[in-house]
Amino acid sequence: MHFSTFLTLLFSLFVSPILGAVTWSATPFNPASVPLAVRSPYLSAWLAQGAGTALNADWPTFWTGSIVGWAGYAKVDGVAYNWMGNPAVPNVTVTKATQKSLQFTSTQSVFVMTAGPVDLTITFLSPVEPTDLVNQSLPLSYYAISAASTDGKSHSVQVYADISAEWVSGDNNLVVNWATTTGDVLTHEVKLANQTAFTEINDRIQQGAAYHSTLGTTGTTYQTGQDILVRAQFIANGTLPNTQDTAFRAVSNNWPVFAFAHDLGTVSAAATDPVVYAVGHIRDPVVQYVIVNNAIQNRNSYFWTRFASIGDAISTFLKDYPNALARAKAFDAQVEADAKKISDDYAAVVALSIRQGFGATEITVSKNGDGSFDTSNVLAFMKEISSSGDVNTVDVIFPAWPLFLYTNPEIGKQLLLPLLEYQTSGQYPNKYSVHDMGVHYPNATGHNDGKDEAMPVEESGNMVIMALSYTQRTNDTSLIKTYFELLDQWTQFLISDSLVPANQLSTDDFAGSLANQTNLAIKGIVGIKAMSQIALLLGDDARASNYSSIADSYAKQWQSLAVSQDGSHLTLAYGDSGSWGLAYNLYADKLLGLNVFPSSIYALQTSWYSSKNNPFGVPLDTRHTYTKSDWQIWTAGIATSNSVRDQFVGAVKSYAADNKNRVPFGDLYETKDGTWVANTGRARPVVGGHLALVSLDRANVPKRLTVASYSWHCRAHRPVSPALLVRRRARADLRGAPRRR
Ligand SMILES: *[C@@H]1O[C@H](CO)[C@@H](O)[C@H](O)[C@H]1NC(C)=O
Ligand SMILES: *[C@@H]1O[C@H](CO)[C@@H](O)[C@H](O)[C@H]1NC(C)=O
Ligand SMILES: *[C@@H]1O[C@H](CO)[C@@H](O)[C@H](O)[C@H]1NC(C)=O
Ligand SMILES: *[C@@H]1O[C@H](CO)[C@@H](O)[C@H](O)[C@H]1NC(C)=O
Ligand SMILES: *[C@@H]1O[C@H](CO)[C@@H](O)[C@H](O)[C@H]1NC(C)=O
Ligand SMILES: *[C@@H]1O[C@H](CO)[C@@H](O)[C@H](O)[C@H]1NC(C)=O
Ligand SMILES: *[C@@H]1O[C@H](CO)[C@@H](O)[C@H](O)[C@H]1NC(C)=O
Ligand SMILES: *[C@@H]1O[C@H](CO)[C@@H](O)[C@H](O)[C@H]1NC(C)=O
Repeated sequence: MHFSTFLTLLFSLFVSPILGAVTWSATPFNPASVPLAVRSPYLSAWLAQGAGTALNADWPTFWTGSIVGWAGYAKVDGVAYNWMGNPAVPNVTVTKATQKSLQFTSTQSVFVMTAGPVDLTITFLSPVEPTDLVNQSLPLSYYAISAASTDGKSHSVQVYADISAEWVSGDNNLVVNWATTTGDVLTHEVKLANQTAFTEINDRIQQGAAYHSTLGTTGTTYQTGQDILVRAQFIANGTLPNTQDTAFRAVSNNWPVFAFAHDLGTVSAAATDPVVYAVGHIRDPVVQYVIVNNAIQNRNSYFWTRFASIGDAISTFLKDYPNALARAKAFDAQVEADAKKISDDYAAVVALSIRQGFGATEITVSKNGDGSFDTSNVLAFMKEISSSGDVNTVDVIFPAWPLFLYTNPEIGKQLLLPLLEYQTSGQYPNKYSVHDMGVHYPNATGHNDGKDEAMPVEESGNMVIMALSYTQRTNDTSLIKTYFELLDQWTQFLISDSLVPANQLSTDDFAGSLANQTNLAIKGIVGIKAMSQIALLLGDDARASNYSSIADSYAKQWQSLAVSQDGSHLTLAYGDSGSWGLAYNLYADKLLGLNVFPSSIYALQTSWYSSKNNPFGVPLDTRHTYTKSDWQIWTAGIATSNSVRDQFVGAVKSYAADNKNRVPFGDLYETKDGTWVANTGRARPVVGGHLALVSLDRANVPKRLTVASYSWHCRAHRPVSPALLVRRRARADLRGAPRRR
């Protein structure tokens, strides 16, 4: 991560313009910011809430806090109600609908807005379909509106929705143009007049187009034009005139909006079929990526492998809504059932984290010389949202890893591949792993000067650990086979540098650099042990046994360096007995089943953390009172008691639900009062780490390779060497054969 270069955002979400008590029912709770359409680094629309902001009490915002205009009206028996956004139409009286409820799941945010005698249900669905890479790569999100009468009578209902051109730029002075296409699907497309590929203004890409589409039904009408005119038209008449404004102009010049109206007809107590819309942001190509000889490759969204045009993709997407909703409900139910095995608090935190976790990632494909897609070349790219714009930051993929492990480890592999390919190309000069693939998304142009933010032990350990984790979860050894030499090079570095780590940064760079970090050493030692497993799986017994004994010997030495003088806890840094911190890297030891650290260490830390809990959790370390939500859940994963595990989970839930900020899940916060640490990370994919507990639960995942705890127990002489024994076991497990003892 890269908090150190974080630029103060222009928009302070911290001070809410609209604070009020929550008057609606919120299930499972009222989050700081509600995901509305969150699917990519550039399709990221939220409702900032604070102490309670109804869907029609403020404008939706991009994750940065800048407004993305999105307004909704309805007419009920001729009376106009505003159900979304906070528009003002001069000289017109409109009643605000009253928010009755908000419910969120892993994929949906559902609002019920009361408009007089009718309840409008608005379902915002951002699909999460990681096992279908086309579906996952489509930067489109649904919303759907249905109405039901609540007074036993029938009512005439029309609904309206528009988006503004704020969806396409971070500079509202820039000129946009637009076009509307009609048919069974109606689409407004709006884009910058002057496009600049791979370039951002205020974190908004200056390339591609925003889409607002709907399925045509009887009485569907559209209009493009000035905000107050188009809205006044619907308010007066309940329909739109099917006209287009072609005076292309700046985003903020008489604010052009892109609107649809539907006539729901006569509405009674049974909810109407929903009218369905899509919002999206699509550009092509999406990423530029450095390949051999410093050549640049433009990469396309993976969805192009199935769809011939954007219109084709939007049409298929819209028509699939009933099935997509059913799939989303099944996904939500599965996640909830798995997470509720831990607790209701945990299920709530996980549900809020999943769209955000995926919303930073894009799946891409390259083209062959003849223009066809090379479907053997699929790479995923992740933006380090808000703490920097880095591409595929290793120590951001790492905390998010449990999300990919749980949903589809293939996407985890696709995130590692650019890093592995790039460093295999020989262009990166350092012997340890690179920090990221480029200083700003979407430019994955590497660091041929070797001057990326140095986190040598952190990133080298992370890469080896994730490579083994992917292999264990999938039984696919291609990754470790292809990149064996690189993984081994990083392991050599860990062997020389991780037992006594030099003064350096860990992922928690905002806390400063430090020598002899106990938790960093854990990572390095787990990395060495992980490489012994990798060697074992590939039949390199000598190396496996060498690295295994090095890791074991380091783990023993580490204990004498890392435990405080009174033996009560692990220090933050060797020799500083008064210091301590979250030893979250032990989670990797547990996840991989390596048992390189003895259970006594887990028990020691569990007991220590039970006495260090502030109102909103355990501090990250003794340098500050703040903590990280992702590392707290990772640490919950190493707790040897359910009560300490639940203490961590409960603290994160309390923070997430305390309504003291308005940002998309901010991971760095104060343990004393539950406030977000202002101007630090928000909307970051690291919340994928909140899935650390469901990812550990073996029942949720394919049976994994089990590694015998040979390090501590099997070292005595045997008829066969320990390494051979373990290799047999490992291979037997990979094949699914019964284990022989
Ligand atoms: C609103 O009404 C006032 C007073 O009648 C009038 O001066 C003004 O032009 C109207 N504004 C619009 C946008 O119609
Ligand atoms: C992906 O979306 C298509 C509709 O475009 C749908 O038919 C298909 O079932 C989806 N795939 C999965 C695995 O959900
Ligand atoms: C687009 O960019 C060109 C070159 O910078 C400039 O001359 C032109 O005025 C711009 N057009 C618009 C609509 O901004
Ligand atoms: C990406 O690289 C291009 C040059 O190829 C540059 O113009 C652009 O500003 C870069 N984008 C970002 C977001 O830094
Ligand atoms: C209102 O809509 C009707 C069609 O439903 C149309 O005939 C009429 O011209 C519209 N009036 C205005 C003021 O737009
Ligand atoms: C780090 O720990 C080692 C081993 O205890 C010690 O020799 C060294 O002086 C320490 N380095 C610093 C900077 O404290
Ligand atoms: C074990 O690995 C270390 C580090 O690569 C190396 O220096 C040593 O020679 C190896 N030992 C054996 C027996 O191969
Ligand atoms: C991997 O192999 C194990 C043991 O044979 C098996 O139980 C598991 O289902 C396999 N996992 C996958 C994803 O194929």
